[in-house]
Amino acid sequence: MRLLWRSLRGLVPHHRPHRRFLSTTTTSGGGSRNNDHQEQQWKQDSHKWSSPGSRTEKLLYAAYWAGGLALGFHWLSDGRTPVLAEPKGELSEDEQEARARLWHVTHRKDLPNYKTDQVEQHNCAEKGIWITYGLGVYDVTDFADNHPGGDKILMAAGSAIDPFWAIYQQHNTLEVLELLEGFRIGNLEGAELTPGVSAVENELGSPWANEPERHVLLKPASKRPFNAEPPIGLLADQFLTPNELFYVRNHLPVPVISAEDYELEIESGSSEKGTLTLNLDGIKALPKHSVTAAIMCGGNRRSEMTKVKAVKGLSWGAGAVGNAKWSGARLCDVLRKQGVQPDESKHVIFEGADLDPTSHPYGASIPLSKALDPRGDVILAYEMNGEPLSRDHGYPIRVIVPGTVGARNVKWLTRIVVADKESDSHWQQNDYKGFSPSTDWDTVDFRKSDAIQAMPVTSAICTPQPGARVRPDDDDGHITVRGYAWSGGGRKIVRVDLTSDEGKSWHVAELEQEDSPDGRHYGWSLWTARLPISEAQRKAGGGDVEIWAKAVDSAYNVQPEKFEHIWNLRGVLANAYHKVKVKVV
Ligand code: MTE
Repeated sequence: MRLLWRSLRGLVPHHRPHRRFLSTTTTSGGGSRNNDHQEQQWKQDSHKWSSPGSRTEKLLYAAYWAGGLALGFHWLSDGRTPVLAEPKGELSEDEQEARARLWHVTHRKDLPNYKTDQVEQHNCAEKGIWITYGLGVYDVTDFADNHPGGDKILMAAGSAIDPFWAIYQQHNTLEVLELLEGFRIGNLEGAELTPGVSAVENELGSPWANEPERHVLLKPASKRPFNAEPPIGLLADQFLTPNELFYVRNHLPVPVISAEDYELEIESGSSEKGTLTLNLDGIKALPKHSVTAAIMCGGNRRSEMTKVKAVKGLSWGAGAVGNAKWSGARLCDVLRKQGVQPDESKHVIFEGADLDPTSHPYGASIPLSKALDPRGDVILAYEMNGEPLSRDHGYPIRVIVPGTVGARNVKWLTRIVVADKESDSHWQQNDYKGFSPSTDWDTVDFRKSDAIQAMPVTSAICTPQPGARVRPDDDDGHITVRGYAWSGGGRKIVRVDLTSDEGKSWHVAELEQEDSPDGRHYGWSLWTARLPISEAQRKAGGGDVEIWAKAVDSAYNVQPEKFEHIWNLRGVLANAYHKVKVKVV
């Protein structure tokens, strides 16, 4: 098993062992530890989730998930494996869901048993791809090509997916579990599982044991990894988004990094120049530069696009964006210090300290031209709105690439490489790319699309919110509408237009924005419009009015009207007109 695991890991290009970062205050397993103990514990812990570990560990993971869902069901003990009792009468939707979520910890008497070594033999497409999850054995050979996460599924071929799903918890949905059960071919022989076990995360070495606390107002799109946006109604209240309300987009557990242990490696791409290593003080000693920049997730407003046709990805509202003043050292200063020349390479790769289950870090890259341009304002940021970065936003250092999709703004930055090729990370190669509306999961070829860098122009109405009952401000029937607008690539917002009659008449909003030069206008613009709703219009629709907003940037790019024509299977670049239905009373 270990051999198989190692050889699978070897298939992944550019594997590089990573340093672990430790805080001096972390507690684990019930008490404070010193650094050495922590290091040991972390290594053990990370081993548990970066490699398959023992069968018992895997089953405990499964039990951990299943434990909370067992409510309302009877468990019969069939020797060592639990069996779900036949339901008595009709099940409610919630009960059906809870039951479906327990399939993988259920011994199915209608299916044969398989031993671990039988499963291990089915570890590639030629021999068939088998995986186990909890007590279930599944043949996913036919599904592997359609796996939304690409060939990552092969990392679990012939073994358990439990440790992977402990990280990629987006799999823990009814839809996925139902799909998986459709591929069930048997039960794993000799697997032990105690129903209802509530595993203690720290004892299990869960990668989620050290997640930071979050503001209660952040609405999670997923809890593990943590992804959340603030209520959209609050977003346009302040020009600089308060740090604790700034959306969070994590693909992996938040790494624990202490300021003392932090190091950043910079490889210039040429062996003569060697590797430059900077610690936190070294970065802070460089000239400090500040830039106001909005960071927007490539999937912001995906929940609107998915209404046209289902897309895969977290269902973000319009709040996966925030605007902050970032401060740090200029990347161009650091690269020049290393003697990097504009024509020597094409890309700059960034790696974070957050590791996936194969010990690969989160990574992304940007063009070298952007990184070297002093007016590109790329910074190694240690401050957000005058405060040290919080753990969720990349403590102690993240790269800020103004005007560029959030995915390239790598947090917990540990390594920078000047290279001829883009980052080979999953997030650069197989995610955050746009496609034609006609491309589907059968025809998609991620190699043929460019990675998103600068984002397109967009806007959103923050108040009133959908379904709100709105009272006009004056006798003329004006209502006040507020929102944000932003465009990538440093393009300034020059206008925001609003209509309440499907475009028969438009009203121009007032803009609140920073006075920075076009081409370097990286912050968002907030806007306010007073929209007249005539008595006749109100009466005609029984008070129902749909408000539309569209922004125009300094290149006179305008938002497209409909999602239909920009639909793409990953639900990125969702920048059609923002439309909000309200009742004017
Ligand atoms: N950097 C690391 N190391 N790991 C991540 O998961 N997520 C990226 C980017 N940088 C990510 C990362 C994505 S997709 C986005 S949208 C932004 O961080 C979100 O930044 P925020 O969480 O500070 O708002």
